[in-house]
Amino acid sequence: MTLWQGRFGGGKQSEELLSFTGSLSFDRRLAPDDVACSRAHVLGLERVGLVSREESGALLSALAKAEEELAEGTFVFEPDDEDIHTALERRVTEIAGEVGARLHTGRSRNDQVATDMRLFTKRALAQIAKAVITLEEVLLARAEEAGDAYLPGYTHLQRAQPVLLAHHLLAHGWALSRDIDRLAATRRRLDVSPLGAGALAGSSLPIDPDWVAHELGFGARFENSLDAVSDRDFVAEALFDLALLGAHLSRLGEEIVLWSSAEFGFMHLADSYATGSSMMPQKKNADIAELARGKTGRLVGHLAGLLTTLKGLPLAYNRDLQEDKEPLFDAVDQLERSLDAITGLIATATFDTEAMALAASDPALSATDLAEWLVLKGMPFRRAHELVGGLVRDSLERHVPLTELVAAHPSLGADAVALLEAGVAVTRRTTPGGAGPGPVAAQLERFAAAVQADAERFGLHAGAGAGHSRGAAAPPAPGTSAPSR
Ligand code: ARG
Repeated sequence: MTLWQGRFGGGKQSEELLSFTGSLSFDRRLAPDDVACSRAHVLGLERVGLVSREESGALLSALAKAEEELAEGTFVFEPDDEDIHTALERRVTEIAGEVGARLHTGRSRNDQVATDMRLFTKRALAQIAKAVITLEEVLLARAEEAGDAYLPGYTHLQRAQPVLLAHHLLAHGWALSRDIDRLAATRRRLDVSPLGAGALAGSSLPIDPDWVAHELGFGARFENSLDAVSDRDFVAEALFDLALLGAHLSRLGEEIVLWSSAEFGFMHLADSYATGSSMMPQKKNADIAELARGKTGRLVGHLAGLLTTLKGLPLAYNRDLQEDKEPLFDAVDQLERSLDAITGLIATATFDTEAMALAASDPALSATDLAEWLVLKGMPFRRAHELVGGLVRDSLERHVPLTELVAAHPSLGADAVALLEAGVAVTRRTTPGGAGPGPVAAQLERFAAAVQADAERFGLHAGAGAGHSRGAAAPPAPGTSAPSR
């Protein structure tokens, strides 16, 4: 049965039409939202007298029955159920009888599907936020236990200056905290009910969009019915937030791949979060990190795809808009799994802080400290940079240790040599937000407060995160002891 048999007569729809235009295979995922939307709609109809109390009762119990069937997996879809809205209305009518014909009063699938999608997106973003917060908590826990361990910080992937391991881990944490901020902002903007916009122009019936908006837990109703049914900004925004979150996980993933390689050797993965090779018996691979990196391609693709679909659409509803669903569903699914896997990997990995310290032991990593030491003695920075650069070049060309050249230089000498000792340079990063122990201690506190605030924004209490068994309580990592100096 189609929803438009009056105009079309009883003829059958072509197979090609059904298989090309149908969306049930993916939009059945909106079933809980469609039930919620219909329930609020029925209550709204009863409230303004468009259905009687008995009729509303019959519709609501039919909805409850259908909901139960959906939850239990006993709901039988028919071949010509074009989408979840059609299927649910058909089933309600089968259960409730003639009164089912009143369900769609004052409503269109256009405002219905927009409402369902907003309900879904609100919930999905909260789920993602929960998983992000758990990852933040794990990064915080690992940063706290990292103590004074340090490693080379890199620019251009060349060793640059030493930084505390905690500082490096929290750098990823702050990016995630901005993701939470974006998810919260997107959720706030999408918290508007389109129900009551009808097909495009509202209704001649006395329905009350404000009341149903409130009933559905939305912050407000739409302002313009044309906009209400054709706006998918919220899906595009959500896809952007998810794509950027994906890019952050990808950068983290890339570092895990590097750090767990023999060339770096900074990190050892727990066996349960690593993979082997079918041919090479010695291999241990960071597939989780690689996939977190690789999945980002499709997340960015989903955003680009939807924006392209939206571009050039005339007002108001067009069937093109059905293309909003699969990218969003997929982005949510992929990211949830990525987040869980990366979180577990980081919670269980071991940091080899001795390898990190060794990699940061080249005295040349203190070159900036030497130059700044000269600045404190009154030398203009450009001259100091030139002087130290000359010593580094000399040391490389004549194969003389930098320490010796510094000791022998009239402007430098023994006090300056002390700066080159392993582990000293990092302690000299004292400015706010810097990579040394003082500012990092303050940063740890600020980040803990940020995670707490992130959790509160999504109605979670910190430490509860996504309810991971691993959670913030990462198992003690054997290699996390401070480097021996
Ligand atoms: N399955 C459709 C979608 O996802 C529902 C709305 C259909 N509306 C219409 N006028 N054909 O967009």
